[in-house]
Formats: sequence, structure tokens, C-alpha cells
Amino acid sequence: MTSIEHKAPRRSLWAKHKIFETNSIILVIGVLLVISIGGLVEIAPLFYLRNTIETVQGMRPYTPLELAGRGIYVREGCYNCHSQMIRPLRDEVERYGHYSLAAESMYDKPFQWGSKRTGPDLARVGGKYSDEWQRAHLAEPRAIVPQSIMPGYPFLEKTELAFGDIADELRANRAGGVPYSDEMIAQAQADLRAQATPDHPGQTDLEKRYPKAQSRDFDGNPQRITEADALIAYLQALGTMVDFKLYDDKANIR
Ligand code: HEC
Repeated sequence: MTSIEHKAPRRSLWAKHKIFETNSIILVIGVLLVISIGGLVEIAPLFYLRNTIETVQGMRPYTPLELAGRGIYVREGCYNCHSQMIRPLRDEVERYGHYSLAAESMYDKPFQWGSKRTGPDLARVGGKYSDEWQRAHLAEPRAIVPQSIMPGYPFLEKTELAFGDIADELRANRAGGVPYSDEMIAQAQADLRAQATPDHPGQTDLEKRYPKAQSRDFDGNPQRITEADALIAYLQALGTMVDFKLYDDKANIR
């Protein structure tokens, strides 16, 4: 042994730190512990501080028909090609409309912000086109937009909507924090039928429960309630609930 052999001073900080540096499991536990303390301090207050929980007028839970349509949107994977979040950047706002507010997705369980735009953002597609346009486009996108690479969904308008469990779906959303009342749950099937059937007597009640709900025959076939009825009702509601004349602040657009 030579005299230049390195000896760590015992009981020093280095010696204590050696426990972490020589044992990867203890290191991982230590890292997780430190990160979770940081996370708790930064994230936990956001759940109860008032100024981080934005409330905006006009937001309401989806009607049963819209909720069923949202289920089809998720089932068909529309989110793989379409985002639902307009960023506060000038080009986005000029193309799609007012940037999305967090509150606009507060009843989306789970949210549909998406991470890819093969097609355009759909956060404000509600009211942009007629039901006829939506119907034709969904059945065969290239009949409307010749260069489109969107797949066709012609089976939606041929498939009867299965909504026997729609009340349970509302209940599940309520468990996740969406304020569906007992009455909304009890009337879910009736409300769904009323919204998709022209001149249905239940429409006044539906509008009382869900202000500004649009009721009509969405799929062009008043005889049946199809998956296209539900999906188009959902698309036509997207981004239409908040009246932005009340929130006209362009200041946040970069
Ligand atoms: C493979 C990717 C892809 C998938 C999956 C897809 N789309 Fe699209 N979508 C597009 C593209 C590309 C466009 C733009 C061309 C066009 O209008 O067809 C588009 C356009 C649209 C538009 C018109 C938007 C506008 O502002 O002009 C709507 C509405 C739409 N899609 C709805 C849907 C729905 C609903 C689904 C699921 C049932 C879906 N898309 C699935 C790619 C996709």
C-alpha cells in the first residue's frame, strides 16, 4: 500500500451520502421522497385555492345525448387526430376562435385535449357546420373535402344508439365530480329521447335541466335514434356553452 491511498473521513457528510450513492434502491426511494415533497407543496394548494379554480358562466354538464356522443367520439378514437384545446396564440385564435378555458373541460371525464392534430382542433366546432354537413362528412369525408385523409364512419347513422345504461353513465360522471342531480339521472333516458326527437314534449324539461341544449333530429332520420344523432349532438355543442362576449379579454393572447 502506498501513502496516497484515499481514505474518506469517517462520519462526514460524504460518508452519510455514501449510503445513497452505493445503493440504488435507497437512492430511488430518496429521489421519490424529495420529488413528492416538492410536488405536494406546489400542486396540493391548487386544489383548494379559490383563484386557481376558474368559474365561468354558461358551463353545464353534457346532456345524456351529448354524453353518449362523447362516448362514441372516445370509442372511435377521434382524439387520435383531433385536439380539443385552442392555445392562446394568435394564429390559433384567428383560426379556431377564443382560446380554450380550463373550465370548458371541467365536465370532460377524461378531458379530450389530445396531443396530435392530424385534423383541425374541434374545441369550437359546434355550430360551425350544419347537421347535414356533419352527417355527410362523417359518412364519407372525401365527399365534402376531396383531399381529406379522415376515415369514413358510415356505420354510425345505421347503428341504433344503445342507451339502456345512460343513467349509470351519468352516475359514474357524478362520482367523478360532474354535478348531475338525482332528477337528471332519473330522467336521463327520457331526456335523451326528447333531445333527438323533433317536437318532443319533453324538450322544455330538458332545456330547464340543461340550458341552451339543442334539440332536433341530428342524423336526418326522425324514426330512429342512431349513434350519428349522439355524435353530431356532441359535436354541435362543442365550445358553444360559454358566451365569450362576457369574457372579451384579448390581453392573454401572445
Ligand atoms: C386519421 C385521422 C382522423 C381521424 C381518426 C378522425 N379525423 Fe376528423 N379530420 C381529419 C382531417 C385530416 C380533417 C380535415 C379534412 C376534413 O375536413 O375532412 C378532419 C376534419 C374533421 C372535422 C371538420 C373540422 C373543421 O373545423 O373543418 C370534423 C368535425 C371531424 N373531423 C370530426 C371527426 C370525428 C367526430 C372523428 C371520430 C369519429 C374524426 N374526425 C376522426 C382527420 C381525422
